[in-house]
Amino acid sequence: MSEHPTDHAAAAARAERNWATIAILIIVFLAAMAAFAGIHQATMPQARVETADPSTLHLTGEFVESNLGSALEPDGSVTVRAIGQQYSFTPQCILIPVDTTITFRATSADVIHGLLIQGTNVNTMLVPGYISVQSARFHTPGEYLMPCQEYCSFGHEGMWGKVKVIDKAAFATMASQQGRVSCVK
Ligand code: CUA
Repeated sequence: MSEHPTDHAAAAARAERNWATIAILIIVFLAAMAAFAGIHQATMPQARVETADPSTLHLTGEFVESNLGSALEPDGSVTVRAIGQQYSFTPQCILIPVDTTITFRATSADVIHGLLIQGTNVNTMLVPGYISVQSARFHTPGEYLMPCQEYCSFGHEGMWGKVKVIDKAAFATMASQQGRVSCVK
């Protein structure tokens, strides 16, 4: 006695449905993992959080006024230290050399501001109490606008800075004459 042909068809349809379900579950699982990893990374604070007391920024530590601006490091890279406050950046004009690894270290003296350099991938929040760190490299000399990118009250629209990218040798000369370099006159 052989089975009825329609039993075969039903079994085949069932197997097909089961495999399709497994395939869909795998896709859903992978998509969920990708979403979790992306959102987790984007929403978690940096693994190594550095802090700075906003009430004593101008008095002591890394962000005293004389230490703001661009510093040429022994390894040839440049560290830029800046602060945002209602409603300006200090320094108002950041001067950096072209084709150099630049590390921005910035914080806020009052509320949350945003530091964005137009035409680049530099875009970070300045949160009072915390130091934001971001690295970049500029391949084209010229001027870049640096608007505040986080609503910080009624003066937000007028909170702008500027980044000026200049020749490496010219920057090195300036850095050797003054400890901290900026293009603020
Ligand atoms: Cu500072 Cu918006």
